[in-house]
Amino acid sequence: MLTSEQNVLLTQTGPETPMGRLFRRYWFPALLAEELPEADCPPVRVQLLGEKLIAFRDTSGRLGLLDEFCAHRTASLYFGRNEENGLRCAYHGWKYDVEGNLTDMPSEPEDSKFKCRIKQKSYPLVERGGVLWAYMGPAGHMPELPELEWALLGEGQRFISKRLQETNYLQAMEGGIDSSHVSFAHRFNLDDDPMHSGTAGNDYIKADTRPKFEVAESNGGLLIGARRNANEEEFYWRITQWIMPFYTIIPPFGTHNPMGGHAWVPIDDTTCWAWSWNYHPTRDLREDELEQMRNGDGIHAKYIPGTYRTLANKSNDYLMDREAQKQNKTFSGIEGIAAQDFSLQESMGDIADRTKERLGTSDAAIILARRRLLAAVDSMEDEALPGIDTTDQRVRSTSMLLPKDIPFYEGANQAIQVVPGTDFVSI
Ligand code: FES
Ligand SMILES: [Fe+2]
Repeated sequence: MLTSEQNVLLTQTGPETPMGRLFRRYWFPALLAEELPEADCPPVRVQLLGEKLIAFRDTSGRLGLLDEFCAHRTASLYFGRNEENGLRCAYHGWKYDVEGNLTDMPSEPEDSKFKCRIKQKSYPLVERGGVLWAYMGPAGHMPELPELEWALLGEGQRFISKRLQETNYLQAMEGGIDSSHVSFAHRFNLDDDPMHSGTAGNDYIKADTRPKFEVAESNGGLLIGARRNANEEEFYWRITQWIMPFYTIIPPFGTHNPMGGHAWVPIDDTTCWAWSWNYHPTRDLREDELEQMRNGDGIHAKYIPGTYRTLANKSNDYLMDREAQKQNKTFSGIEGIAAQDFSLQESMGDIADRTKERLGTSDAAIILARRRLLAAVDSMEDEALPGIDTTDQRVRSTSMLLPKDIPFYEGANQAIQVVPGTDFVSI
């Protein structure tokens, strides 16, 4: 349970809010590279942390992320012309480069100095790993570019999707670190997923449905361990990484299957982009795997064609099927792992009222993640932030058998480091 002041502090990410200032110290995913596929392609509207922006790729291929509304009389630059290394407002022709400098002001006298005094707000936007990353914080604090494992792999080794989620980012992210819902919300579908079936892990999960959770602090965030009985001497551990401010890595099933992960990036305080990626560190994804991902299977979701909005959504009760629920085809009547998650998260309302919750032992990771976010806000000006340093990002999740007397964070110490070119550790 939180006080309403804490809930406001954690969930508001606009420009003048404490959490908004914290998030602006990190690079984060803004767009898929496919949204700006080539030089001089149409600009794209993008809202991040409550700010309405316009992204474009200029004639030379450089990326720009500008305030959406023209400095002249606030027309949207979405209607602008992307031409000759700049975005020209369609209203009176003012033209901006990728850094927001005004390079042409055809509505004013030729010798006017007016244009030198004006700059459109702009943020750095950089392509890496199939994603366009934004940095919206103070220039003096700009960290190194992100080095999450998937972002450094070859194009064929990863698949990335994003979908609109109609809630605040926090309850979406809390869903990602809440391991106990898996045995319920996804109960009848764990075997359907080709990435789970036939692995030892799946058998342990089915045999022991009451995992014990242990959480440890990592440099970048949290290590969340779920422990199940395996045999006389060993436990089966599934260890999830949560990396500040809003990334998770899902413990894999076997080394032959790709790894998965998420990020939840606030659009404004009541919607967010749920990002999902699958990747494999030592091989390209196979065509059959890609086909399933494109089809919205696993952690991805089916779209309304031509959009990043899901086919099953709030407006149609997520295509709930009571008959499937009754027949134990799905636990909640909703099809698809992702939709099973976001339907319940959205059912809490735009911003979950955390003054009303009753947290149990299985919610330990959620409690600690909130605590780390709040602590980071307090120490932001004095200390290095968790998850900023690229070594905090070069980590993996794992699933493994460990002797019963070994703490999971010690036993998994090697397995959770990224060693480029090696397989991850998983059974
Ligand atoms: S409003 Fe953009 S040039 Fe006038
Ligand atoms: Fe889930």
